[in-house]
Amino acid sequence: MSAWPEHALAAAGHPDPYPYYRALAREGWRRDEALGLWMAASRRAVAAVLGSSVCRVRPASAPVPAAIAASPLGEVFGRWLRMNDGEAHAGLRAAVAASLAALSLGEATDAARRLARTFLATDAVDGRRLDDLVDFLPVATLAALLGWPEAALADAAEGIARVCRALSADADDAARERGAEACLALTAELTGLPATGWLRRWRAEFAGLDDAVLCANLLGVLFQSRDAGAGLLSAGIAWRCLGEWDHGYPAEWRARLLQDPVLHHTRRFVEEDVVLAGQPLRAGDQVLVLLAAAAHDPAAEACMDFGRGRHGCPGEALALATAHGALDALEACRPDWRALGGGIVFQGPPNVRMRRFGAGESK
Ligand code: HEM
Repeated sequence: MSAWPEHALAAAGHPDPYPYYRALAREGWRRDEALGLWMAASRRAVAAVLGSSVCRVRPASAPVPAAIAASPLGEVFGRWLRMNDGEAHAGLRAAVAASLAALSLGEATDAARRLARTFLATDAVDGRRLDDLVDFLPVATLAALLGWPEAALADAAEGIARVCRALSADADDAARERGAEACLALTAELTGLPATGWLRRWRAEFAGLDDAVLCANLLGVLFQSRDAGAGLLSAGIAWRCLGEWDHGYPAEWRARLLQDPVLHHTRRFVEEDVVLAGQPLRAGDQVLVLLAAAAHDPAAEACMDFGRGRHGCPGEALALATAHGALDALEACRPDWRALGGGIVFQGPPNVRMRRFGAGESK
C-alpha cells in the first residue's frame, strides 16, 4: 500500500488518495503551515466556504496575477466569469449559463463522437494516441460547435493548452509569453468566425456587453473545458479499461465521480474576518477547498466534482455529453482495453486527477 500523499496539492496525482481525504474530512478543517493554506475538507466546511460571500475567487489586491497583469493574457483573465465575484460575476454568469444551455446535448455528443472517430481513424489506438485524444477532444468539440474550421481545431486545442500552461503556478516567462501569443491568436480567430449557430446564441446572450467581454468568456469556457474535460474523459476511459460501463448515463458518471473524483480542489481568498463551519478565518487567508475530500465525507450525498454555489460548473451536462460521444467512438474501435489499462499513471495539473495511458510506451 502506498504512503499517503505528501500534501493536499499532491493528492490528485496519488494512486489512492482517499484514505487521506477521509481523514481530512473527519477533521473538517486543517491548517497547512508549509503551504500557507487553510484546508476545508468536510462537506460542511466546503459548503460553507463555497457559499460565503467573503470567500472570493481572487485576492482583492490582485484580481489578475501580477506576472500576467500587463499582458493580453491578463486582460482576458480579468474578464473571465470564473475570476470575478459580485455584480460583474452575476451578469456574466447569466449570459454564460444561458449560452451553454442553448446547445443541445445531443449535438455535443454527436460532434464529440464524429471528431473522435476521425481522430482515431488515422493511427492504431495505443496509449499515446489515447493521451492525444484526451488532450484534443474537449476543447476541439466546443470549438467545432462554435464554428471553428475543422482544419484549425488541433491548433485551437494546442492554443488553449498553452494558455493553461501559462497560468499554472510553475509557469516561467517563456510559458507566459507563449500563452499570451496563443491568446491573441485565438481571439483573432474567434473574432473572424461567422456568427451562426451556437455562436449566434452567444452573441445574443451577450448583447448588452462589450465584444471583448464576449470573446474573453468564449476563451474562458474553452479554458475551463481543457484540463477538467481531459481529466473526465481520461477517467471514463480508465473505468472502461476495467470493464464495460454505461457511459451514456450522467447518473452513472456522477456515481463513479463520487467515489473517484476528477476535480480535487479549488481555492478561495478570504476578504474579511469570518467564522465558517466553526473555523475562524482572517482577511487575507487562503483556503484550499478540497472537493474530493468532501465527496468522501460520510455526510456527502452527491459528487462534488462540479463545485457548488455561485461559481458551480455551468458546463457539467456539456462535459458529460462530450465524454459520452468520445467513448462511443473509442468503443467502436474495439481497442485492447486490458493493454491500455495496464500502463495508467496519474499526471496532470495539481487539482485534476488526470490519467495518462502512454507514459511507458516508447515511440
Ligand atoms: C464543457 C466543459 C466545461 C465547461 C464549458 C465548463 C465551464 C465552467 C465555467 C465557465 C466555470 C466558472 C463558473 C463561475 O465562475 O461562475 C466552471 C466552474 C467549475 N467547473 Fe467547469 N466546465 C467544464 C467542465 C468541467 C469538468 C469536466 C469539471 C469536473 C470534472 C468541472 C468542474 C468545475 C468546478 C469544480 C467549477 C467551480 C470552480 C470553483 O468554484 O472554484 N468543469 N466551469
